[in-house]
Amino acid sequence: MERGIFITFEGPDGAGKTTVLQMVGEKLAQSGLKVLLTREPGGISISEQIRQVILNKDNTSMDGRTEALLYAAARRQHLVEKVKPALEKGYIVLCDRFIDSSLAYQGYARGLGIKEVLTINEFAIEETMPELTLYFDIEPEEGLKRISTNNSREVNRLDMETLSFHKKVREGYQIVIEQFKDRFFIIDASLPIERVVRIAEEKIIEKVKK
Ligand code: TMP
Repeated sequence: MERGIFITFEGPDGAGKTTVLQMVGEKLAQSGLKVLLTREPGGISISEQIRQVILNKDNTSMDGRTEALLYAAARRQHLVEKVKPALEKGYIVLCDRFIDSSLAYQGYARGLGIKEVLTINEFAIEETMPELTLYFDIEPEEGLKRISTNNSREVNRLDMETLSFHKKVREGYQIVIEQFKDRFFIIDASLPIERVVRIAEEKIIEKVKK
């Protein structure tokens, strides 16, 4: 059986990647492709439970390293229980966030060190890296504005961070992109949603056909 393709969606909060992932996923499924849509932290019961702990607004005392380890633990379980089996069955797996979120948020924005956070994540994921990462770029001010006007979205512990934290997240992503250039494809998320969806879909199809 043909092996699947692992594709991740990344970007600062409010970039709209979750909506784009759903829309692109539907289009790919309609065209007859086997697609699995999932997210981090979460995607399966154990990892969704870890998500509750990480994002709980009451857990204000959570230490940065604890946070990084919990994300890595949720990632590990999701990978072995859901992502890898789907890849083995030939699915195109579209995952909302993966290791790059930890590198940008915990490694850079929280100041734990990109290299250090990469090390704990290498333990968690072993060799499984995405073949393509779509990065949805948005100015932090615009991203936060979108979050505050989107009533259907849960407001979590990380949304409560300051604008300067979200600016650091974007800077962190820029460093990570530089480090893993070959895997990243940058999309301007300030464009109208239909355009963003079309660009993402085209890039994924190009990858599938390769
Ligand atoms: P979401 O809003 O995209 O579902 O993600 C939840 C929050 O978790 C978001 O603010 C980004 C953050 N996050 C990290 O800080 N590190 C990670 O490794 C992941 C996967 C998410």
